[in-house]
Amino acid sequence: METTMEQRMLKVPPRKIMTPGPVEVDPRVLRAMSMPILGQFDPAFTQVMNEVMAMLREAFQTKNQWAYPIDGTSRAGLEAVIASLIEPGDRMLVPIYGRFGDLFVEIGERYGAEIHTMTCPWGTVFDPQDVIAEIKKVQPKVVALVHGETSTGRMQPLSEIGHACRELNALLVVDSVATFGGADVRADEWCLDAVIGGAQKCLSVPSGITPITYNERVEHVILSRKKVERGIATESDQQAAAVSPIRSNYFDLSQLQDYWSERRLNHHTEATSMEYALHEGLRIVLDEGLAKRFARHKLNEKALAAGIEAMGLDLFGDPDCKMPTVTCVSVPEGANADEVRNVLLTQFGIEIAGSFGSLQGKIWRIGTMGYGCRKDNVLTVLAGLEASLIRCGVSVNRGEGLQAAMDVYDEAAD
Ligand SMILES: Cc1ncc(COP(=O)(O)O)c(C=O)c1O
Repeated sequence: METTMEQRMLKVPPRKIMTPGPVEVDPRVLRAMSMPILGQFDPAFTQVMNEVMAMLREAFQTKNQWAYPIDGTSRAGLEAVIASLIEPGDRMLVPIYGRFGDLFVEIGERYGAEIHTMTCPWGTVFDPQDVIAEIKKVQPKVVALVHGETSTGRMQPLSEIGHACRELNALLVVDSVATFGGADVRADEWCLDAVIGGAQKCLSVPSGITPITYNERVEHVILSRKKVERGIATESDQQAAAVSPIRSNYFDLSQLQDYWSERRLNHHTEATSMEYALHEGLRIVLDEGLAKRFARHKLNEKALAAGIEAMGLDLFGDPDCKMPTVTCVSVPEGANADEVRNVLLTQFGIEIAGSFGSLQGKIWRIGTMGYGCRKDNVLTVLAGLEASLIRCGVSVNRGEGLQAAMDVYDEAAD
């Protein structure tokens, strides 16, 4: 039997995505993505690029010249920075307090770094003085740290470590994928040398583009490894080519920054629609204002946490270093973590996340990020979670979670 075009069109179910990413995309961003494609050297498009750079500087709270996106998911941003900085044998210190610290190790190893790690229990973060002591001992070229560790819902304070890195001549590379646009990330004030943000989290942009920024200390290393690819290199480019060039072509920041400069050196074909998406996502962040936006994330986090606890569930991890954008909930005795998540998804269309490694099956992670960080979402996830738990035979304080969350909103409104 023949199908109609209507029947053949792609359809996806409506969802509330309350995970630590990807999250629901802001409708303004979806609209921007439907704009016509422009050529990547069209002045109308390079104007968009320049505006993106200016907005990234504001959002990263930096005066760095270099603030531009990498085409690829967040780990592409991490890899671009590490690939451009690390030469085989360079020492790299990675303090690990969750899965994404391990990702830094994984990337660094593949580019030949001599990796040094330190660990603390998942659910906690490092005392900055312990990290500083290790930097003094190891004397690394690069310290790679996650700001918001989505696997455990913790946030590492960075300022003290950043200042120490400056004094001790180490480069501090920070994964702020899950905090950028949702919590304070002060690149200059905290002395962060390179910062990688995320799009599909607090910016509410689809996955596939990754904002980064870096300062002159990083640029200095990058330029010492510069080699413009054959086919487009001028004679003077060829003469200036580094003996030990950056090992990756796609993630070569020395060439990418030329594309993002007035030189507009041809590299890859820019992902135009993603650029529009990022432009609109950043516009939304800056229109709201950073301080107001961070306060909104904190309010919704507070209401969610109050609701979870009033329901009789325990929050996972050290509360003193909790991320405002991710709330981790201990799976109660006797409950099957995946079964509860499945009821929530199939009955309510709400997705929450499990976790990784030693925390798999032990915690749920609920994201309150960007466009999805709203009162209606918080109240609905609490209602859905309570009903799903009851459905799965887990006893909770019926009705109390929602009331506690509503109290938080009412108090904030007074
Ligand atoms: C803190 C953190 N860093 C890095 C990544 C990797 O990002 P992507 O999956 O977009 O490559 C994630 C993804 O969830 C993350 O949460």
